[in-house]
Amino acid sequence: MAKENEKLKVGVPKETFPGEMRTAIIPESINQYSKNGFRVLVESGAGEAAGYSDQQYKDKDAKIIDSRDELFKQADIILHVRAYGTNPEKGREDLERYRQGQIVIGFLDPLGSPEKAQELAKTGVTGFSIELLPRITRAQSMDALSSMATIGGYKAVLLAAKSLGKMFPMLMTAAGTIAPAHVFVIGAGVAGLQAIATARRLGGVVKGYDIRPAVKEQVESLGAKFVELDLATEEAETSGGYAREMDEEFYRKQREMMKSVLKESDVVITTAAVPGKKAPVLITDEMVEGMASGSVIVDLAAEQGGNCSLTRAGEEINHKGVTIIGPINLPATIPRHASQMYSRNLLAFVKNLMKDGNIDLERDDEVIRESMIVNGGEVVNQRVRELLGQKSKSEDERSEG
Ligand code: NAI
Repeated sequence: MAKENEKLKVGVPKETFPGEMRTAIIPESINQYSKNGFRVLVESGAGEAAGYSDQQYKDKDAKIIDSRDELFKQADIILHVRAYGTNPEKGREDLERYRQGQIVIGFLDPLGSPEKAQELAKTGVTGFSIELLPRITRAQSMDALSSMATIGGYKAVLLAAKSLGKMFPMLMTAAGTIAPAHVFVIGAGVAGLQAIATARRLGGVVKGYDIRPAVKEQVESLGAKFVELDLATEEAETSGGYAREMDEEFYRKQREMMKSVLKESDVVITTAAVPGKKAPVLITDEMVEGMASGSVIVDLAAEQGGNCSLTRAGEEINHKGVTIIGPINLPATIPRHASQMYSRNLLAFVKNLMKDGNIDLERDDEVIRESMIVNGGEVVNQRVRELLGQKSKSEDERSEG
């Protein structure tokens, strides 16, 4: 057994992004960290917004630390939800607190803001971006992006239901029959499938579409109708299971073919995303104008530019009677479950960094390799280096040798 002062320390600072209510650790995860030889340090108040008091962490044997500076000084591993990259203003203040050799884990958005990864590299930490985990079977328990997308898809339907002047289910009442709401979900990845399932649970008549033909079966298994469009989609899926970026002509045809489905939908939920790229515009102003007054669009891709040309991130607008909602950071609005899922994802991630009771970052492990973005003072992730116009690491080493 490692002595108390020899134990590796996992530190959880309070989230500082405006409106962020999640936390990177919940009290239930602490036993597991202890079993793996860690001591958990929690900044006072870190779990409060998600419903966890300092006392609940203390009861599980975590140490509560009042000073953020002190927490950063003591911890070997810092667990964030939104680290610098997804927390541009307040997160910047943490750059001065990081120590050389410290491990930093969280959402860092290195593909969206690679220059921030470069700044993080200068602090000398080893930084892991949880967004870059490969979607492989072994990494499923760590896949926080999927956990958060599940919550986003669920909440998107609730937002739509709140704004829609209709109910979702078909009802036979003494006042006559109420027709069910028609819901169209565009993009049937994690968020989209959860949106379909939630809309179905509420009693809506649901249709789904995705350019990856492989998801037809999943859409149908949730009781929704898969919309077939006559488009060449054989090349639409990458080997990693994500969508490929298609050309503008493809998107033009797609928009044309989806017009009639949009017209008959009360609710449209869009989740179409291509990793690391701007979201494709699939709904134009004109298409919105073709929808019935009172219809609602919830654009989950708002932060990546939006799937609808009228979407404004973080806002709700009304265009000729159609409500267009561009929510951001939806998982933070369901902080209890979001924190529970995230905490479990990070625990699995940290456990994977260990070998024989020690942190081992040197071994060849796809999960470690792909999610590590900075190490030893530089950006090490290939995709992020490309965005920064830097040579690949192997080219660099060759030119040095
Ligand atoms: P994902 O990668 O699992 O799913 C995206 C889906 O869109 C894929 O199935 C892909 O094939 C599909 N797609 C791509 N291009 C398409 C096109 N032209 N037409 C139809 N489908 C297309 O991603 P995930 O995790 O489901 O997230 C979806 C989006 O929701 C992302 O933009 C993500 O950032 C966002 N999101 C937003 C939240 C918020 O608070 N606003 C919360 C959670 C997720």
